[in-house]
Amino acid sequence: MSVQYQPDRSLSVLRTGTIGGFEAGRLAYGCWRFAGSSVAEATAKVEAALQIGATMLDTAAIYGFGQQGFGGAEAVLGEVYAAHKGLRERTILVTKAGIHPPVPYDSRASNLIESCEGSLARLRSDTIDVFLIHRPDLLASFDEVAAALAQLRRDGKIREAGVSNFSHTQLRALQAKLDFPLVATQPEFSPLAIDPLEDGTLDVAQEFGLATMAWSPLGGGRLTAAHQPEAGTQEARVLSVLDAIATREGVDVDHVALAWVLAHPANVFALIGTQNVDRIRASARAFDVKLSRQDWYDVLVAARGVSMP
Ligand SMILES: NC(=O)c1ccc[n+]([C@@H]2O[C@H](COP(=O)([O-])OP(=O)(O)OC[C@H]3O[C@@H](n4cnc5c(N)ncnc54)[C@H](OP(=O)(O)O)[C@@H]3O)[C@@H](O)[C@H]2O)c1
Repeated sequence: MSVQYQPDRSLSVLRTGTIGGFEAGRLAYGCWRFAGSSVAEATAKVEAALQIGATMLDTAAIYGFGQQGFGGAEAVLGEVYAAHKGLRERTILVTKAGIHPPVPYDSRASNLIESCEGSLARLRSDTIDVFLIHRPDLLASFDEVAAALAQLRRDGKIREAGVSNFSHTQLRALQAKLDFPLVATQPEFSPLAIDPLEDGTLDVAQEFGLATMAWSPLGGGRLTAAHQPEAGTQEARVLSVLDAIATREGVDVDHVALAWVLAHPANVFALIGTQNVDRIRASARAFDVKLSRQDWYDVLVAARGVSMP
């Protein structure tokens, strides 16, 4: 039987995917920049996110540090939940533990458990749907981290567990100590942060069937029409390619950047971080973008600054 070459097809971007036992929108709402919002403002953002199917809300115990203080972003979200009966059940709640300034990282079991309990109180929730270790603590053994996750899961304080900013070897080492599967990895991933494509992060996500939660998919605002990059930089190259695609597709560059991230086969969810309600809603235009393989590689080549080998 002859194998026929498949012509170039638009890379399809599905609106939902699975993360452990949960079905969630592929656009998720990141609450890092949330601290400082009033409850009314935060409610409007969460409602806008839900309107576009962004049912997964990502926060962390540390968010708010330096503004309202440690736990500030979780506390705002907790007030939103408390003020809107039934809202908590409509969302998939992700939070993270293990960063406690001034010590950079602390994933001792006691700290992870205490941190989770603090998050539950601030978030006015009985359980965390997906609990992530925020960054690898080089001084915490994988045995100890695994024991803490197992205990939290046994106690019903978390439903699923995952990691953020872990290398693929660190993820594997932790998984080897657990008798249940991790469900998520959360790396920085965007056309300006392409290491996960080659450092094993997205490979191990596929191997273990994880969700890949891409943080700062717009490079923290650098992949938007508002950003003026310096000529000749990676940002300038990438924005130029995104802009050409955006013009053709009738969308904005940020929507193309989101579509690019979502098009990778590692079960990617993009954590959008805008605090602007209109921009939250407009993010759904990412699903309208029809990227070809050529488009996708054009963006990657622009990011690399050299052709593919
Ligand atoms: N695990 C980790 O270590 C880690 C680290 C960082 C972030 N995260 C997660 O990832 C989430 C998203 O990160 P992020 O906020 O950096 O995401 P992002 O979506 O890459 O960047 C958001 C920033 O871009 C700006 N922006 C978005 N669209 C724009 C537009 N069309 N024009 C002008 N500016 C625009 C936003 O400003 P406006 O608000 O004014 O729109 C905001 O400052 C966080 O909330 C957090 O949940 C995780």
